[in-house]
Amino acid sequence: MNLFRNLFSSSIGRKFLMAVTGLVLVGFVTGHLVGNLQIFMPPDQINGYAYFLQGLGPALWAIRLFLLACVVIHVWAAVVLTLESKAARGPEVYGVKKWLRASVASRYMRMSGVVVLAFIIYHLAHFTIGIPGDETYKGALEHVVLESDVREFGIPLASAGTEVHDVYSMIFLGFANPLVSLFYIVAVGLLTVHLWHGADSLFQTLGWRNAKWAVGLQRIVAVYCILYFLGNLAIPGLILTGIVQPAEGTAAAVQLLAQR
Ligand code: HEM
Repeated sequence: MNLFRNLFSSSIGRKFLMAVTGLVLVGFVTGHLVGNLQIFMPPDQINGYAYFLQGLGPALWAIRLFLLACVVIHVWAAVVLTLESKAARGPEVYGVKKWLRASVASRYMRMSGVVVLAFIIYHLAHFTIGIPGDETYKGALEHVVLESDVREFGIPLASAGTEVHDVYSMIFLGFANPLVSLFYIVAVGLLTVHLWHGADSLFQTLGWRNAKWAVGLQRIVAVYCILYFLGNLAIPGLILTGIVQPAEGTAAAVQLLAQR
């Protein structure tokens, strides 16, 4: 109990909480990207995958609540740590170069964190809850029937003949709008900057910055961040530019053709 209380009440405990919740959220965004990249496969794949996730019922809600708790703790710890470091710094250190550098990085973290939070709220409205009066997904909101069994890494997700939500068309139609695509690209760009800086401060907290192998670790973080950004850029980017077209006969293909 004492350990638990110390986690929340001490500065080092809060840094630890920020790091752990940050890592959980990195796990989520990575898994989410891998799932989303199925948009470039035949429509049954992502539709069957989304159907499987929805079918998790109470387990899905447990995961959602856990992720929400991680976001709340992460933001709370960030705010408290920022206020503490401001109070500790005092007014007399203005002009010190090192402080300025740290301050630019943490200002970046705050700015990117706020935009990512706003993006998540918009994103939930956009794809999960639905924006009232938004007519973008007319045909896509109807159910489609899976033509084949859907599996992932050998695990059966949904069987042929199941009626599922047409998530495939919803994504294509969503990203056919340049403003929506642009916002996604800017948001995932800032999220990538946030992850990159976050890893850097995590290494500093753990005292790893100067260790010999830290250089290797920093390279791994850099490669991960670049791949993460490119993967996320590919979805709105390839759809908006028309490089990847929706599969024939899907609601997205029919609706986009009618708009041209
Ligand atoms: C190109 C990028 C993205 C695409 C195509 C995408 C697609 C989707 C879709 C289709 C859903 C709804 C699933 C459903 O209700 O069936 C969803 C949910 C969600 N997405 Fe994304 N997403 C993207 C990026 C992101 C990013 C960067 C984040 C986090 C920063 C994020 C966080 C979430 C969350 C929290 C949910 C709700 C999950 C749930 O409660 O079921 N997404 N996304």
